[in-house]
Amino acid sequence: MCGITGYIGNRNATPILLKGLKRLEYRGYDSSGIAILDTDRIKYLKKAGKIKELQALISKTSIYGSIGIAHTRWATHGSPNDSNSHPHLNESGTIALVHNGIIENYEAIKETLIRKGVIFQSETDTEVLVHLISAIYYEDKKLSFEDAVRAALQEVVGAYGIVALCKDEPENLVAARMGSPLVLGVGENEYFLASDASPIVGYTRNVIYLDDGEIVSLTKNTHNISTLKSKEILTKTLTEIDLTIDEIEKGEFPHFMLKEIHDQTHSITNTMRGRLNFQDGTTNLGGISEFIPSLINASRIYITACGTSWHAGLIGKHLIETYAQVPVHVEYASEFRYRKAIIDSDTILIAISQSGETADTLAAIKKAKELGALTLGICNVVGSSIARETDGGIYTHAGPEIGVASTKAFTSQVTVLTMLALMLGRKIEVAKNKGQNLISSLSELNKDVEEILKNQKKIKEVAKFTKDVNHYIYLGRGINFPVALEGALKLKEISYIHAEGYPAAEMKHGPIALIDENMPVVVLAPMDNTFSKILANIQEVKARKGIIITITDTKNSELEKLSDFILYVPPTHQHVFPITSSVILQLLAYEIAVLKNCEIDQPRNLAKSVTVE
Ligand code: G6P
Repeated sequence: MCGITGYIGNRNATPILLKGLKRLEYRGYDSSGIAILDTDRIKYLKKAGKIKELQALISKTSIYGSIGIAHTRWATHGSPNDSNSHPHLNESGTIALVHNGIIENYEAIKETLIRKGVIFQSETDTEVLVHLISAIYYEDKKLSFEDAVRAALQEVVGAYGIVALCKDEPENLVAARMGSPLVLGVGENEYFLASDASPIVGYTRNVIYLDDGEIVSLTKNTHNISTLKSKEILTKTLTEIDLTIDEIEKGEFPHFMLKEIHDQTHSITNTMRGRLNFQDGTTNLGGISEFIPSLINASRIYITACGTSWHAGLIGKHLIETYAQVPVHVEYASEFRYRKAIIDSDTILIAISQSGETADTLAAIKKAKELGALTLGICNVVGSSIARETDGGIYTHAGPEIGVASTKAFTSQVTVLTMLALMLGRKIEVAKNKGQNLISSLSELNKDVEEILKNQKKIKEVAKFTKDVNHYIYLGRGINFPVALEGALKLKEISYIHAEGYPAAEMKHGPIALIDENMPVVVLAPMDNTFSKILANIQEVKARKGIIITITDTKNSELEKLSDFILYVPPTHQHVFPITSSVILQLLAYEIAVLKNCEIDQPRNLAKSVTVE
């Protein structure tokens, strides 16, 4: 949700900032802008639309300097037009600022500023920040720019990552965070600031993750980090970023989403690396090993997440209850945080998040912590806010995910949950050979995904046949019901076809009314204890002339007879089928979106890393 970046050093900031924005574009692409301290004034350009619009503007002007800030926007307050784009400047054009987050008390601040005569140019909440900083800075001549930013932020309620510059302190860049991520890249006589490490990785591997309530003041040779409450300088550790350029570029693939679907030939293996113990039929998850007794004896586990991660949570519930026999409740973070959930010291909250920055998930963790629950995180981004806020956790190690529609992060989340359930189960009554069976299927996953990727022709046929429909239904039972939900979400997100996931047997309680010869119905039909039931559900759809697209790991003549299309995954353990079948559903959504000419990596209205509530 909005990407911000900044640079101070000896190079021309413009290309560095633009490249950084491209890397952050997954966070929002409604508009973008840049401000550069160019000798004695701030030059800025901003434009509605994707970053290429800004690029075109920049190529027509000269905007040059060694200190600058930039922004890519996902609109919250105010429509995505030029004037609502960041950076925002004070009236005299001497201070510029970019912001990621939401200022909750902006209306009250705005009223006060208007009463003082300030004229606003935009409908954004952000603009109050720059006028407030300006009012404080120019009212009290003794304050440094950093002090003015600190004082202004003390009046603000909400979430922010900001980077600001001031013409009157041309050697200085100031940034701060509260609830929105901010990473400081430390180079040789230069510094980089960004919402995540991807804009920084090409220049330096040394970063400092700023924490909530911290403010940093930079010159090209120094960084001083303190807090919003105290000017005392903090000593923060330098972290080496574990990220390569290859991982954040799409290489020969036309889209990040396709690259990330293909990455699953190794990303799932990376998730499991060093964690499988075939000998004992169990798994080792170092980040939570000290909490195993608490997990086994928990009165209840809440799994909380948003979007795709919430679907992974539903699969996790099924697995944890099956293997470890602990009651699990799966809740949308945005709902959980506002209701009176039953939380005591025997309650454990597991938060799942690819980005580790989703505002609602973070808030749910904070609430559970306050009420005395142990909190654990399953995150992909190392060092992210959720990873740091929780008491312990497990990284998914899927590698950077840039396509807005989550793919490899999801299969890695499910893999982590499978390993967690097995580890807990083995501590109670699950037999060693059961664990070994599951582990041997998990170990085949890289080959299984390779096999699925070889058979894209059939998936393309289904895509071609169904690309013009208006609705799609996905059906699954038990552990595969959430897979149906996730398949439907993928299709909605990137091809804008309305899609619904249902438990297969629930269909006859309503959705069956929708079935006719134009309705594709994807059915997840693995060879498990519900196979005969799912066959019956398929018959019900067939009788109403629905287009049946079956995904299975089993050759079965009746299934073949009933299906209009049948897509096979290699035979696997019933608890691994959700992972392999998800790869097919991702590809199906992808191929349909390609045929419909959709913006696959940047679907309309969406963004990754939702740092607003
Ligand atoms: C957004 C993304 C989804 C993602 C969800 C949760 O909606 O578009 O792909 O599943 O946020 O994000 P998280 O980073 O917490 O997993």
